[in-house]
Amino acid sequence: MDDIERIAVHDATDRQRGDVVNRLTDRVAVVTGAASGIGAATAKRLATEGACVVLADIAESGNELAARLRGEGRRAEFVVCDVSREQDWDALRERVHELFGSLDVLCSNASRQRAAAAHELSRHDWDQGLAVNLTPLFLGVRTFLDDLRARHGSVIAISSVHAHFGLPGQPGYAAAKGGLTALVRQLAVEYGSEHVRVNAILPGPILTPVWDDIDEADRQRSAAATALRRLGDPDEVAAAVAFLASSDASYITGAELVVDGGWSVHKESR
Ligand SMILES: NC(=O)c1ccc[n+]([C@@H]2O[C@H](COP(=O)([O-])OP(=O)(O)OC[C@H]3O[C@@H](n4cnc5c(N)ncnc54)[C@H](O)[C@@H]3O)[C@@H](O)[C@H]2O)c1
Repeated sequence: MDDIERIAVHDATDRQRGDVVNRLTDRVAVVTGAASGIGAATAKRLATEGACVVLADIAESGNELAARLRGEGRRAEFVVCDVSREQDWDALRERVHELFGSLDVLCSNASRQRAAAAHELSRHDWDQGLAVNLTPLFLGVRTFLDDLRARHGSVIAISSVHAHFGLPGQPGYAAAKGGLTALVRQLAVEYGSEHVRVNAILPGPILTPVWDDIDEADRQRSAAATALRRLGDPDEVAAAVAFLASSDASYITGAELVVDGGWSVHKESR
């Protein structure tokens, strides 16, 4: 299933739920990693709720999604941005200001995984993992801090249940995701007095292209490990991002919102 087909599935899901509201009218949002999966669903959800959305990604396919959202009457633009590069963040800020003005919402979502046990992970891959999965939250907040202060903005970092649970072959990813949740708490405390809210979402197994190489038996095992007995849909994470971005979450900061169908509380007793 390609991303456009996935969006069609999201559309159907939205219609089924019928509960998308307009909480973000005229807010300006950046979503990183917006060309695919959870980022794409989030860009669509924020735009549907009325936000002007900048989709930032290294994958040019984000252009197609932005065009499609514009075709539906939403305000959305794509910007090529490698979130591990400081100069790309500076260029992104310039472009956001040109397009829509100051930023209200930053969703730091982009990620790349290199699965390997610690003894098999090269120093280069470890460094790259942190550069893409952890450092961009620091770079993003630093880049947009003036906007976020002025607009009483909201930052949402997409972490993972891996922040709290060990799974074989994921030391770099888990370290980055755990680091993200710690950094979220720090940033929430640091900038709370300036009305900037910073929160983390910890998704569990969500059916995105990262699952394309995982066979059906393993998918079913992951689904069975959740309390709800199914994999999550990217829309279900996007809905949580929209909530945290909105004033419905006005007294929530430094929080970890777990969106995992009960994966982290479900245990079989034998
Ligand atoms: N899918 C899951 O089961 C799951 C579970 C827990 C957490 N997450 C987290 O959710 C987020 C989204 O995951 P997904 O499953 O949608 O992944 P995905 O692979 O579908 O999307 C990731 C996006 O990030 C982009 N990206 C990669 N490196 C980048 C860079 N250097 N600069 C800019 N963009 C870059 C990719 O091009 C891609 O569009 C990630 O932070 C991931 O860790 C996903």
